[in-house]
Amino acid sequence: MPVITANQCAIRLTPSILAADFMRLGEQVREVAEAGADGLHIDVMDGVFVPNISIGMPVVAALRRSVDLPLDCHLMIVEPERYLEAFVAAGATHITVHVEACRHLHRTIQQIHDLGVTAGVALNPATPLTAIEEILPDLDLVLIMSVNPGFSGQTYIPGSTARIVRLRRLLDERGLHHIDLQVDGGVSAANVADVIGAGATNIVAGSGVFNSLPIAETMQVLRQAIQHRCSG
Ligand code: DX5
Ligand code: ZN
Repeated sequence: MPVITANQCAIRLTPSILAADFMRLGEQVREVAEAGADGLHIDVMDGVFVPNISIGMPVVAALRRSVDLPLDCHLMIVEPERYLEAFVAAGATHITVHVEACRHLHRTIQQIHDLGVTAGVALNPATPLTAIEEILPDLDLVLIMSVNPGFSGQTYIPGSTARIVRLRRLLDERGLHHIDLQVDGGVSAANVADVIGAGATNIVAGSGVFNSLPIAETMQVLRQAIQHRCSG
């Protein structure tokens, strides 16, 4: 396990709006912004790569008008390269694509960077970490899926923690300390300390933030659990 010092503990907390009340989306994203969210995680699903359909560019554009936070778009879609430009035009500041959905991952990452935003690659729970070894130096973020993508409110897959530890070791060994290690799926106040302890630097939480109101309180509980792990 890596030793985390208070100084290193610049953990980013990125609420996933998938679990928000879409009738009150503007209000709820302003609440998470005021509660200190470091960005918004936007789950884009096409019903092909994952068995669910969610939201797209118009919602990203509406969020761009509502809040002044980084917009982290997690594309769970096939052929994501077809939509990169549209998402950046809508206001995305970061785009993560799935390694399993890209035929030419290196080219797709280049395209994201050419559009002037940061780039990440996500790995499904069954995908070996070796699938991204070659592309690591080109990335700004690696996303370890700790559930099978497609839905919020699922249970954290316990084996994910060992994967985070192994990825952290790989990044540290190769001196790639600038790469954000994001973890997405089933993270809540109950397990966030373990996820941070394993080496994550960016926490996505959907139901853990939006499903037990008030939002300001759930955000504070998550932050406290993170701080506790960092200083403990
Ligand atoms: C799942 C999405 C996640 C999801 C997280 O496919 O990528 O971002 O919204 O939701 P929770 O935190 O409820 O598991
Ligand atoms: Zn996500």
